[in-house]
Amino acid sequence: MKKQVLAIAFIATFLTPSLLRADEGMWLPFLLARNYEDMKKMGLNLTAKEIYSINNSSIKDAIVSFGGFCTAEVISKKGLLLTNHHCGYDAIASSSTTENNYLEDGFWALNHKMEIPIPGLTATFVISIDDVTEQIVKNLTDEMSEEERNAKIREISKTLTDEATEGTGYKAYVRDFFEGNEFYIFVTNTYEDVRLAGTPPESIGKFGHDTDNWMYPRHTGDFSMFRIYAGADNNPAAYSPENKPYSPKHALPVSIKGIQEGDFTMVFGFPGSTDRYLSSFGIEQAISKEQPKRVEIRRKKLDIMKKYMDADKEVRLKYASKHAQVANYWKYFIGQTEQLKNNNVAEKKREIERHLNDFATNNPRYASVFGNIEAAYKVKDEYVYTNVYQSEFIYTVDLNVNIFRFSFMEQAFERNGEEGMNGVLNILKGLMEEFYTNANLDIEFETLTEVLKMYAHDVPQHLQPELVKQLAAKNGIDKYVAKARKKSIFASAEKLNAFAAKPSLKKLKKDPLYALIKSISDKHTEANNVPAHKEAKEKLTVANRLFVEGYRLMEPTKQFYPNANSTLRLTYGRVLPYSPSSTKKFEYYTSLEGVFEKEDPNNPEFHVSEKLRELYKAKNFGKYANEKGEMPVNFISNNDITGGNSGSPVLNADGHLIGTAFDGNWEAMSGDIFFERDIQRTISCDIRYVLFIIEKLGGAKNLIDEMELVK
Ligand code: ARG
Repeated sequence: MKKQVLAIAFIATFLTPSLLRADEGMWLPFLLARNYEDMKKMGLNLTAKEIYSINNSSIKDAIVSFGGFCTAEVISKKGLLLTNHHCGYDAIASSSTTENNYLEDGFWALNHKMEIPIPGLTATFVISIDDVTEQIVKNLTDEMSEEERNAKIREISKTLTDEATEGTGYKAYVRDFFEGNEFYIFVTNTYEDVRLAGTPPESIGKFGHDTDNWMYPRHTGDFSMFRIYAGADNNPAAYSPENKPYSPKHALPVSIKGIQEGDFTMVFGFPGSTDRYLSSFGIEQAISKEQPKRVEIRRKKLDIMKKYMDADKEVRLKYASKHAQVANYWKYFIGQTEQLKNNNVAEKKREIERHLNDFATNNPRYASVFGNIEAAYKVKDEYVYTNVYQSEFIYTVDLNVNIFRFSFMEQAFERNGEEGMNGVLNILKGLMEEFYTNANLDIEFETLTEVLKMYAHDVPQHLQPELVKQLAAKNGIDKYVAKARKKSIFASAEKLNAFAAKPSLKKLKKDPLYALIKSISDKHTEANNVPAHKEAKEKLTVANRLFVEGYRLMEPTKQFYPNANSTLRLTYGRVLPYSPSSTKKFEYYTSLEGVFEKEDPNNPEFHVSEKLRELYKAKNFGKYANEKGEMPVNFISNNDITGGNSGSPVLNADGHLIGTAFDGNWEAMSGDIFFERDIQRTISCDIRYVLFIIEKLGGAKNLIDEMELVK
């Protein structure tokens, strides 16, 4: 008897979680049939075709890739877009001046004329998605080298994308999924006249700043609004004052009904990258070497920026966006390392690996997968820091990457002589102009100097160029950079223009800054071409592909989903609180009261605008308060998202907009590598807070009036 009760309780623990399941999975919307029944069971009230259709308008037609780095959704018949404040941040900062500071004060367009064009900003719709695995895989063999394989994939992809776009203005791309086991084609349509329509002040849009970033409970009004403009025919057109607001195939109705614990939620968007099939060996290397080093370098960059930003308002504006980007992933890597350890992710991976090894007893194709992976990481270990510095020092310090690009001049000369070289120089000149207008050279040169010292200390001697070794040996880095700052052709816009007027490769190669950057980068390329290293990387790619192939074969009833790769995905789940430990529980929503609890006049990260205080005191929440009379601010759900999903619509069971997703929670920062069913949450900004801020704080009722509000 007792046993039976226990058995029932045991089964029940499996049943209840299935009702409240943490919904892992970033699903491809064109394969929705695989999830549809599950979604219905969880409460979805839509047909599959209403979510994704290529013939009729569907929800997918309201979702755009915003600038290629975030997601936004169409929320009116006039092409109005909602995204996050941190997605619009660069556009907002670059439209600001110290007199008209939209970061500090917010901005609301009361009519179309006031909207601010943002050169370079795009909105891309997905027209269709198809599986082209067969067409590609039938041309691949196990005997091919990775190089041959990739060349073949590129060749077939080119034919497929040409066919798919012929006679249209569309673009297409083929991406690989499941570590190279499947291939899908995406046809897209990109609009390139996107304008800023509204943003709250930073004290709302970024309330809590770095302290609260990646954390819950949260109180951030992380939203901003843009509008897509089109040519007279509603097709994409370059910016022109004649362009008209885009008329969408679908605009999301906006729900002011509110949300309850357990409500069905789905999030549609463009998650950038996850590494869910990373092995335990990869995790060990990431937490022991790679991530701590990234954190250290980023900390250095941030301290240098901050020093100059605090001293000068103009510098603060110029570097606001850069600082935010570096800080976002500085904290990300701290959190990821910490939670990979806390959540024992390597051990969870080892369990899967043991299973696959057992499975391989009868499936010898997979027998050497993890042996090969382990061996590959052993070889790669030596090269971790040179890779980290290439990415954190050469490619992401603005001065350095701008100098590095001049190596394209050399390449163009080799290929197309003088003429080719001058063509490249012309493009570089434009980029440099932009650089000199936007950069603060004190920050750039100090960063170059200080991170170079770290490089000299960290990167194995034999992977450093002679120049750096010699400088470091005599403590000569400061002096070298200081002198170069006087003499280099990159020292100022004037010097660069003088060089561009009389370009010479000889002069370029002799330039002290170019020589420095180029030698570091060349040494890195050399390291990547060391035969043993190359072989290890290739071995790893092949083994990872086999791992995923075998894993799927081993669990034929499990629904697998591919890693995020900036393609359109859908994830569904529920509004749910969570308990990060036995003594802590976080409610599923936060309200404006919490903003005032967190307020700290002595800490600019937690300043509150006076206007918001007045509205709060008067409880002037309009029709946007919840049934308790509170103003809801953020809520959480167990949807599976990652960076790139920022700005994504959170939809209820009827496909109505209830929020915009903007972050994940600290306790599950390992989530990009292993989804934590019990504690992983998506943090979203409640749409009612968005509407309240637009209407009551921004006074931009015009924006609300163009939306379709539903209960
Ligand atoms: N962590 C968020 C993301 O990567 C960005 C949040 C922006 N807010 C901030 N305080 N930096 O999507």
